[in-house]
Amino acid sequence: MSNDITVLGLESSCDDTAAAVVCGRRILSSVVADQTALHAAYGGVVPEIAARAHAEKLDICVEAALTEAGIPLARIDAIAVTAGPGLIGGVLSGVMMAKGLSAATGIPLIGVNHLAGHALTPRLTDGMEYPYLILLVSGGHCQFLRVDGPTSFSRLGSTIDDAPGEAFDKTARLLGLPQPGGPSVEKTALTGDEKRFTFPRALLDRPGCDLSFSGLKTALLRQRDQLVTDQGGLHAHDVSDLCAGFQAAIRDVLAEKSRRAIAACPGITGFAVAGGVAANTQLRAALETVSADFDVPFIAPPLALCTDNAAMIAFAGAERFAIDGADDLTLSARPRWPLDRTAPAALGSGKKGAKA
Ligand code: KG4
Ligand code: ZN
Repeated sequence: MSNDITVLGLESSCDDTAAAVVCGRRILSSVVADQTALHAAYGGVVPEIAARAHAEKLDICVEAALTEAGIPLARIDAIAVTAGPGLIGGVLSGVMMAKGLSAATGIPLIGVNHLAGHALTPRLTDGMEYPYLILLVSGGHCQFLRVDGPTSFSRLGSTIDDAPGEAFDKTARLLGLPQPGGPSVEKTALTGDEKRFTFPRALLDRPGCDLSFSGLKTALLRQRDQLVTDQGGLHAHDVSDLCAGFQAAIRDVLAEKSRRAIAACPGITGFAVAGGVAANTQLRAALETVSADFDVPFIAPPLALCTDNAAMIAFAGAERFAIDGADDLTLSARPRWPLDRTAPAALGSGKKGAKA
């Protein structure tokens, strides 16, 4: 079976340096060195700092992944590396590392689209059969993809501005909550009243599956400032209510657009979600309900495989290798690389990280 080759995967497209060894659907190791502490003081990922940290950490992660897997480099069948989309300095660090390893050893090189890594994860974790629908929802991406094969993707819709994770992070910043914003907003929302403030549910009045989250953040800012003007400050329960209202708006929009996306994809084997925002309990529950309404299985891979990692890159590399064979040393790093080349460009689609 083509999938049974042993692949070393490398990932460095945003703020996680990762290496993994995968054989078929077995993850023999998956090492992630995150850069949260390096960027904490700046309120976001600083591309130059990220690129330098990737260059410093990649070889350490590769060694750790090989050691943990108990497989020497000589027994690796292929090296898969994220070749885009993402922050170009980081992507370049990974591609150069993979090329160096490939040139020195003669091991075939495979350039992988980062979004394909996320989109194929349900096959790695759950053996999901084609065709299926996936919602990628993170700090850098938000799109619905129908997946028909390892290199066959149709985008049904995507954000036209911010990604939801970005909106969670900005909301946390506006309310003085710690980063990353998703977990802290979710926790603060637990004691909040989601009905006290009504936040916009953008683009629900238009047909289709495109999304928009930048107006939501502005609405939250206005509401916060109004409370400060009216009361002279924010009480803890105000912050909780704001978080609950904000989270409910994201949940409702993603649930409704998921409903439309599933309806537009007859014959799918299931609906999957991936990306850091998929960690959100309310969102998962809402998406599960939507899937149940359509009687399609719902797959949410374990969080470590929803967020950026190299196991998904190794797996996607193996799937692509079986179809396209290896790349050569002309493989280049690409800041933008839409999975669906026929879909029109979604301007601004997730500003923080990977573009598509
Ligand atoms: O996939 P990921 O690790 O990295 C990329 O952005 O590619 O996603 C990180 C994003 C952050 O914006 C973070 O705030 C968000 O996922 N996130 C969450 C939760 N946990 C992480 N958003 C909502 N609820 C959560 N529980
Ligand atoms: Zn990602």
